[in-house]
Amino acid sequence: MTMYQMQIPVFSKLPKTGTTIFSTMSQLAEEHQAINLSQGYPDFDCSPTLIDLVYKYMQAGHNQYAPLAGVLSLREQIAKKVNSMYEADVDPQTDVTITSGATQAIFTAITSMIREDDEVIVFEPSYDSYSPSISLNGGRPIYIRLQAPDFHIPWKAVKKVMTARTRMIIINTPHNPTGSILSAEDMEELHHIVKDNNILLLFDEVYEHMVFDQKQHLSVLKYPALRERSLVMYSFGKTFHNTGWKLGYCIAPAYLMKEFRKVHQYLIYCVNTPLQYALSEYLEDASHYTGIGEMYQEKRDLFLGMLEKSRFSFVPTQGTYFQVLDYSAISDEKDIDFAKRLTSEHKVASIPLSPFYSKKVDQQMLRFCFAKKEETLRQAAQILCTL
Ligand SMILES: Cc1ncc(COP(=O)(O)O)c(C=O)c1O
Repeated sequence: MTMYQMQIPVFSKLPKTGTTIFSTMSQLAEEHQAINLSQGYPDFDCSPTLIDLVYKYMQAGHNQYAPLAGVLSLREQIAKKVNSMYEADVDPQTDVTITSGATQAIFTAITSMIREDDEVIVFEPSYDSYSPSISLNGGRPIYIRLQAPDFHIPWKAVKKVMTARTRMIIINTPHNPTGSILSAEDMEELHHIVKDNNILLLFDEVYEHMVFDQKQHLSVLKYPALRERSLVMYSFGKTFHNTGWKLGYCIAPAYLMKEFRKVHQYLIYCVNTPLQYALSEYLEDASHYTGIGEMYQEKRDLFLGMLEKSRFSFVPTQGTYFQVLDYSAISDEKDIDFAKRLTSEHKVASIPLSPFYSKKVDQQMLRFCFAKKEETLRQAAQILCTL
């Protein structure tokens, strides 16, 4: 490390943020050569056709800045896709913006809508970017715990925390890390709660294609009365197994998107041009995304089928590529300690659930990512069955 003479005082805007559990567990997995079911990305590659398309558009000279809102043909393809999937009439000119992954879209949405002292309802356990994005903008996250074992939203508790300052509710369905999904009754409850208030909704639907057992992903885009107050986030990285490309998009009504784009303009202006052209052509063939749920359900069923003989207990995940396992019959260690020991001694890395909460909680549960090759899942499950 370079030694400097002095340090200028820095007053951290995120004093509580340290090394994330994802980095810690991945590093530990590498150190111990463990099977890595911790971080949420596949161990198989994206389609070679898609890679060829990127090359094609680079060769064709699409290497300069894209329009601020994104390449129009991609926005048109997205509008067509959501129209066929969710019967939602989306205007590609005004309602869609291409972003550098869903995380940038989330930050942009929160920055454009949340002001000093605004309250934002966040359900825990939660994806880690929501809370810091709110705090950096002077807002206050108001946490509500999802109810185990199925991790449903306790709507009565939501009503109780609502105040005149409540500005936004963040909903993630299918949900990371628990794999729960919203039901039609949940959507009704939500409508009931917000209909007489000026509350915005941020819907994080990055796992829209990963829903199992003949259930359906209920996108907010299907609900006109909710959609008119919603910013909805999607991720090509999750859908097409290329999380490293960091490409996603936000859909919102024009009056909200106008403000979203003002922030997007100064945050990033526009995102990777040749990838946008490639994805636009790739989306012309709907079969590229219609079979994703089935593919992941096979992986889930394989993993859980093998774990039936184990001492872990579980509720089969309804969506996402994550499965939560309860290890309380195996050990009474804290979840972080157990996850670390599982990695170092037994060579399977997972993510403990407690870091997904703002306050200390230990439910003796771990999250495993099953976006992995069959042989990876078999090896991991075999080890887990020995515990
Ligand atoms: C719930 C949720 N939202 C957003 C993201 C981020 O998506 P992206 O990689 O497109 O930024 C993730 C990634 O893990 C996620 O789990």
